[in-house]
Amino acid sequence: MKALVLRQNPVAFHVEHVPDPMPKSGEVRVRLHAAALNHRDEWIYQGQYARIQYPAILGSDGAGVVESVGSDNDSEWIGKEVMINPQMGWGDSNDAQHPKDYQVLGMPSQGTFAEYVVVKTDRVNLKPRHLTMEQAAALPLGGLTAFRAVMTQAEIMSTHKVLITGIGGGVAQFALQFALAQGAEVWVSSSDDAKIHQAIALGAKGGVNYRMEGWHKELLTQAGECDAVIDSACGDQINLFIEVLRYGGRYVFFGATLGKPKELNVQRIFWKQLRLQGTTMGSDQEYARMLSYVEQKNIVPIVDSVFALEDATQAFETMRAGKQSGKIVLRIV
Ligand SMILES: NC(=O)c1ccc[n+]([C@@H]2O[C@H](COP(=O)([O-])OP(=O)(O)OC[C@H]3O[C@@H](n4cnc5c(N)ncnc54)[C@H](OP(=O)(O)O)[C@@H]3O)[C@@H](O)[C@H]2O)c1
Repeated sequence: MKALVLRQNPVAFHVEHVPDPMPKSGEVRVRLHAAALNHRDEWIYQGQYARIQYPAILGSDGAGVVESVGSDNDSEWIGKEVMINPQMGWGDSNDAQHPKDYQVLGMPSQGTFAEYVVVKTDRVNLKPRHLTMEQAAALPLGGLTAFRAVMTQAEIMSTHKVLITGIGGGVAQFALQFALAQGAEVWVSSSDDAKIHQAIALGAKGGVNYRMEGWHKELLTQAGECDAVIDSACGDQINLFIEVLRYGGRYVFFGATLGKPKELNVQRIFWKQLRLQGTTMGSDQEYARMLSYVEQKNIVPIVDSVFALEDATQAFETMRAGKQSGKIVLRIV
């Protein structure tokens, strides 16, 4: 099969022909039609991820058609249009994933940047009918992360006002869609005014450019204090989020694109009785709830751009430059 292989020395992607993966009992082989990039793939490319193994076929998100199965028990899946649940081994707790068993599809296991992927049968779900293959491929990892952040951790409701930062990001866009579907008042931040206007067109109340000095004061003037901030940048901005939150508010974060803060205003955190809540992807139950929520609310993932597998380097350049607004998808068939 054709696959995008990440090789070391020098670290680079190559489209290569590699052996087709074969499904064993309890597994299905999916002929991928589309796969989506996540920032995880870029962190791995940059060497900023734990225990990287080369060569690697990355890609956590994909949608396609089940083409063969490892045992007759799963034969009803053959020919079905499916999307893939990218996480494995979450475990039984709703609080957090199992620290040892947990894995994300795409390094060390073979990922979706290929013509075929083999996964356990319980990792596939029927593709929602209202989504194209590209839209379905865009949903799993980002949608699950945003769903847990918005629903489980921030517990966003219609009475809430929420700031979602870096709205061009794939996860942030899902968080916007879910928070709006909950009926919340949503404010956004971005490096790009055009992305703020796109978010307003989708239903956000307004937004600020985080590159502007004093953006948090502008937000407080326009929006007032927020019940929750949903963020993936962290860094020193966390002290500004602390100011933006109301007393008793929640800061929910799933990434640290800006790294650690040099200082943390701990006095303001306890005085304002804030909750700082880390979050990572989500459980299988949350994944199932996310899929039915997307169907029920007719949510369509926002696909920024679609590239051929052969043009994956351009797709990664788009992500690196932060030019996207939504998900970047690779078309495989
Ligand atoms: N823990 C988890 O389970 C999990 C899951 C998914 C992602 N993540 C992490 O979350 C982060 C975003 O992931 P993604 O896949 O959504 O990435 P993405 O689609 O590449 O989006 C990245 C976005 O980050 C925003 N950003 C950059 N600098 C910022 C700043 N100073 N303040 C606020 N926003 C800033 C930009 O928004 P603008 O373009 O609007 O400026 C950019 O579009 C990554 O660090 C990723 O590793 C974690």
